[in-house]
Amino acid sequence: MTIKLNHTIVHSRDPRAAADWFAGVFGLPRPKPFGPFLDVEVGNEVTLAFLSAGEMEIQVQHYAFLVSEQEFDQIFGRVKARKVKYWADPMMSQEGKINHHFGGRGVYFQDPSGHLLEIITRPYGDWPG
Ligand SMILES: [Fe+2]
Repeated sequence: MTIKLNHTIVHSRDPRAAADWFAGVFGLPRPKPFGPFLDVEVGNEVTLAFLSAGEMEIQVQHYAFLVSEQEFDQIFGRVKARKVKYWADPMMSQEGKINHHFGGRGVYFQDPSGHLLEIITRPYGDWPG
């Protein structure tokens, strides 16, 4: 199978602020302008294309990122340094906590437009042993 997710649009209230925020928190290169988009590429060649939602209501999406233990420390450190709220669960009921599903670490937080971002150090279903 050769099908790969290549890019997705991230509708944003303020795409410049959202793209800069995302790249900054995740430690990625500065967003690249491409037409009306501000593109940020992650490690598996998927581009997040930040775009102004204009007058549209933003439909909140969920974006999950598999990261190394070291990257988790760095990204989570920047989340906390920016005083961004975080939760152990996608229902956002366990504020200020992280989870340890599948023997790794995971945490949820929102981007400036309200999209729910997640970082995990183990893929779902990857039970130890
Ligand atoms: Fe998720």
